[in-house]
Amino acid sequence: MNIMLLGAPGCGKGTLAEKLINKKGFTQLSTGDLMRKEISKKSVLGIQCIKYINAGKLVPDEVTNGIVKEFLKEKHNGLIFDGYPRTLNQAKALEEILKELGSSISKIIYIDVAKEVLLSRISGRLICPTCKISYHTINRKPKIKWICDKDQTELIRRVDDEPNKVEVRLKAYAKQTAPLIKYFSTNSGFLKIVDSGTLTPEETYKKVMETF
Ligand code: AP5
Repeated sequence: MNIMLLGAPGCGKGTLAEKLINKKGFTQLSTGDLMRKEISKKSVLGIQCIKYINAGKLVPDEVTNGIVKEFLKEKHNGLIFDGYPRTLNQAKALEEILKELGSSISKIIYIDVAKEVLLSRISGRLICPTCKISYHTINRKPKIKWICDKDQTELIRRVDDEPNKVEVRLKAYAKQTAPLIKYFSTNSGFLKIVDSGTLTPEETYKKVMETF
């Protein structure tokens, strides 16, 4: 089963993906994480991505689709697409790639969260640069302040979580990604909306499981 997670920046895609991985053994394909990994390696691909990510803009489709194609060269059972696709062009590219692999998307979960909740989730987010787990200064505190529970790495804030970058990301989401909700509602029969605004991560996970 392959699952696609759709939703605005900060809605909780990565947090939900982490639960699906830990509890159900899925593999995550997060284009954001893959891009940040390339940036930290200072690879050619990372250099292509950094100016877009740091400005809060989407990385061009040809670069992003290339990253996904490369990832999917290896066989994975049960993928979670987190943050991909994000444009109509990417959605169509993914459909083509999966078709070639004889695979498909089985479920699409749209995590619906109001803007003020997104902003409070993003403004409190801390991430572990090693294992990528995301914490929150109020909602999901690490046991020791600024230290990852899993690998004791010092937590950081993402460069693109600064308020002015967040505004750019939300605009990019509204213009380029939100239209995918209509696209998939029309073109696939399996898009489910999960209103997570007042739910904890565990409640969100349970609600998602109910839709399966
Ligand atoms: P990416 O890394 O994909 O970021 P995003 O989509 O903007 O989403 P976020 O990671 O900000 O949030 P999330 O929904 O995963 O929330 P999280 O679980 O962390 O992309 C970053 C950039 O990379 C893009 O701007 C673009 O430049 C580039 N990029 C990536 N993919 C691309 C693509 N396909 N095409 C082009 N460019 C691409 O949760 C947020 C916080 O809230 C955390 O602190 C968490 O602990 C907390 N939280 C989560 N759920 C809950 C809850 N239910 N209750 C309370 N707190 C919660």
